[in-house]
Order: sequence, then structure tokens, then C-alpha cells
Amino acid sequence: MADSSAPLQEGAEATVKRNPHPDFKAVEASRPPFDTSKHFNYTQTPKPDWKPGQGANDSSKLQETHREIDPFAPGRPLINNYKLLISGVIPRPIGFISTLSHDGTANLAPYSFFNVISHNPPLFILGVSGGYQQPKDTLANLIETKECVINMISEEFIEAANYTALNSPPGVSEWPLSGLTPAKSKLVKPDRVQEAIFSVEAKLVETREWESKVEPGRRTGVLAIIEGVKFWVREDAVNEEGSLIDPAVLKPISRLGGIAYGRVTESFELPRPDYDQETKDPNIAKLAKLEADGQ
Ligand SMILES: Cc1cc2nc3c(=O)[nH]c(=O)nc-3n(C[C@H](O)[C@H](O)[C@H](O)COP(=O)(O)O)c2cc1C
Repeated sequence: MADSSAPLQEGAEATVKRNPHPDFKAVEASRPPFDTSKHFNYTQTPKPDWKPGQGANDSSKLQETHREIDPFAPGRPLINNYKLLISGVIPRPIGFISTLSHDGTANLAPYSFFNVISHNPPLFILGVSGGYQQPKDTLANLIETKECVINMISEEFIEAANYTALNSPPGVSEWPLSGLTPAKSKLVKPDRVQEAIFSVEAKLVETREWESKVEPGRRTGVLAIIEGVKFWVREDAVNEEGSLIDPAVLKPISRLGGIAYGRVTESFELPRPDYDQETKDPNIAKLAKLEADGQ
């Protein structure tokens, strides 16, 4: 169905004006090629000698002022909220969702209003724009069959994955158009994507429909809560006990604002602080006490 990841103007890609480039291919040609030699590596944190209480690393930015935006200010186009949110809440993971329609048409589409929210049970959320009345194929299939496979997108197949957002009519499968390879699932009927390094067979738990704040009665989106029932991880990406996926192999792609995607090529590690350990330091204990004393 039509690409309408915006909460309003469903199906009107031309209205969303997501692509800022009149000639995208010309702009792309002016840019350096994708750097496949760039391998995932760890660096230090921005400030390895940071001490508790020190705050941000560049305090001069505290002088900057913030603009207050009322999402429903008179005259503000609602689409601006969509554009602001998808450019400000980044990077977003992308759930690449495989479903089957009641008549057996296989559907594949990317969703970046997506995340994992629990591990026991393994739960995922999916935000689909439009309501129950004119559901995207993914939502219609999920509601009908209660099954899907969530695949994570890697660098190696981002173009193919992006192409599945094509506004093809129901009954037209995105699988052959993408050129991706279906692989059999065990507990659900929809296939998983063989190229995906990490896939999760999943079942629908529940959905909830949202209504516009400014146009009462207008249904703008549906939240789907989905439970993972089986994991698939490519052997070269996972450790022996099946508890860790190597980002250097996963090469995850995230969604940024507009039509931009992000790579993960650099990382740093930071240990999680423990209160009892940290407050053995009298300076930190003093900081912790400031709040308690109401100072
Ligand atoms: C990277 C990416 C992320 C997307 N995220 C969402 C999303 O979170 N919600 C949504 O409704 N549409 C989203 N879309 C648009 C859908 O993928 C698009 O409408 C697609 O045609 C839906 O397919 P379906 O009708 O087969 O489910 C996204 C598109 C792309 C390329």
C-alpha cells in the first residue's frame, strides 16, 4: 500500500516531501562512495577523565537558547511534527516485517516506529500510520494472521530493504521486487529474510488505534505489540552461548530524518555505575547527599 509513514496525509508521499533533492541521483553522484573499508571499531569515550558532577563536556553550549514549539500551534502544518520527530529521535532501529495475507500473498516492509521493549517475554512495538479502516498491508496481515517475522536490516541489503517501502497495491508481493531470499520459519507461516543476520519469529499480542488531537474521529495510527517466539542469528555473528551479536558482522542500518540512513562504524564502552561502589568516594557521596538534603 501507499507509503505513509507520516501520521497524517496517509498515502501522500508527494505531500510529505521527504526527499529534499530535486535530482537525488545528481546529489548522490557528488558524494564520496560508500566506504566498505570502514570497519567497526571501538574508541575511548569523548572524555575518559569525566568525573561525577561534571556535567556535559562542553559547557559553553549552555548559553544556547531553545525554541519552544507547540505541536498544535495555529498555522503549524501537522506534517512538520512528523518531520521534526523523525529527525530528532534518531537513530531509529528498523523492523523489516515479513507477513502473509489471508490469501497467501507474502508482504515485506520496513518500519522505523519500532523497538524492543521487553525480554521476558520478548516484546516489540510497531507504529503503523493510518487506522484500522485503511490499514497498510503489514497491519492488515498482522491483524488477520497474528503472525510476522521481524528482520534487522544490515548494510549489505539496505537498497533492497528500502525498495520494499514501494507503494505497491495489496496482492503485489515486495519479495521478488526486492530480490531478497525467503527462508522458512519454524513457528510462524511468514518467511524470514535469509540475508538478515538477526530475525525474530513473532506473534501479535494486541493493537491500539490512535486518534488525531486536532481532527476528532480521524484515526492516524496503530500501535502493535508483538511477542518474539523464536530467534534466528547468523552463525558468524553470534557468540557460543547465543547471548551476544557482533555489531561488526550485523552492520545495522538505522533510520535518521528525511530520507537519511545511518551506519554504525564506531563505538565506545562505558561501565554502568553502581551506587554503593561509587559513594565510597567521599566527593561522590557528598554530591549524592546534596539532593537528599534539598540543597
Ligand atoms: C526505513 C523506513 C521506515 C519506515 N517506517 C515506517 C513506520 O514506522 N510506520 C509506517 O507506517 N510506515 C513506515 N514506512 C513506510 C512503509 O514502509 C510503507 O508505507 C510501505 O509501503 C508499507 O508497506 P505495507 O503496506 O506492505 O505494509 C517506512 C519506510 C521506510 C523506507
